[in-house]
Amino acid sequence: MTINVGVLTAGGDNPGLNAALRGLGKSASYVYDLQLIGFYDGFRGLLHDRHIMLDESALSGILTLGGTILGTSRDKPSKMLVGGKIQDMRGAMVETYKKHHLDVLVCIGGGGTQKNAFSLMDKGLNILTLPKTIDNDIANTDVTLGFDTALGIATEAIDRLHSTAHSHHRIIMVEIMGHNAGWLALGSGISGGADVILIPEIPYNPESIAQAILERSRSGKHFSIIAVSEGAMSMEDRKREKQLLADKDAAKEKKDKEKAKAALEEFYSGQAGRTMKLSRDLERLTGLESRVTILGYVQRGGTPSARDRLLGSELGTTAAALITEGVHGMMVAIKGQEVKPVPLKSVVNKRRLVPPDHIWVETARRVGTCLGD
Ligand code: F6P
Repeated sequence: MTINVGVLTAGGDNPGLNAALRGLGKSASYVYDLQLIGFYDGFRGLLHDRHIMLDESALSGILTLGGTILGTSRDKPSKMLVGGKIQDMRGAMVETYKKHHLDVLVCIGGGGTQKNAFSLMDKGLNILTLPKTIDNDIANTDVTLGFDTALGIATEAIDRLHSTAHSHHRIIMVEIMGHNAGWLALGSGISGGADVILIPEIPYNPESIAQAILERSRSGKHFSIIAVSEGAMSMEDRKREKQLLADKDAAKEKKDKEKAKAALEEFYSGQAGRTMKLSRDLERLTGLESRVTILGYVQRGGTPSARDRLLGSELGTTAAALITEGVHGMMVAIKGQEVKPVPLKSVVNKRRLVPPDHIWVETARRVGTCLGD
């Protein structure tokens, strides 16, 4: 009997999503008896039943395309802006699921999507998820779809910044995405040979960074490249953050709670300016000129790397095989050489950060890279 499968992509886009859709859809029609229906723009398309039948022809020629042919959004099923109000729209999504007689819904996305998909399980839907994000921060999988492409783009940017930093004898700071995890900055920093790498997991001291730069100058290297993760913070700021979080937890009265929450929000809104501030501090502390490059969305755009095409294909085809076996309530994870399901419950509300003793941290230190501490 044909199995009806819905699929959506949610959260930030990244290269490799189409490879996963193609892997799922092609194996659904070539090998398994699955009928695939795609919903547009993440959970919003599921709500409004905006869909496309993903037959073999709809999936042709998309392997090398970046982004997602389904579109995406950051909508949360239980807190969705509809008619000017934030509402729990899960009930309406269940209706769409039933209307199409779906047996399972595949949700492809990052940490937020895993959580949102899990919240639909509470409403009785059969869910299977695939892990994708350039941040590489999803729990219980070794790697996420899209990370490898972004790693390549950030590394190439660091390569290119070397010649201009060298010619002008400047410090160049390159801000790299990754949300609150340092995988992308650390990986590309090592691959591109950055002199300083700053990640959220290791709070930095501007003085230590300045010392490392001055040391390079003394040895005749009058330029430095700093790969800084968008979530990196100084030791001082990390202390302040801890205090604000403690204040929020300790607040009893409603008005104190709101005050503490507002203070925390204001603190986080300052994150965007932290790289610029550090750049100014380093100019003052070293006497060198400093410039900042924010890589931004370039890291999420364009053609997927060969590794992400392969990974997307592995994840998509394995999802089709698991659906045929009746598996749901799981995320399809990468574990060593294996692609296998792990309970979705073990993934939600967790973030995979760079452990302090990770081989990449050791490697960076062993080649003399300053990590800011
Ligand atoms: O999660 C992927 C990511 O690109 C993060 O690295 C970044 O912090 C965030 O998304 C940007 O979000 P948005 O696309 O909503 O601006």
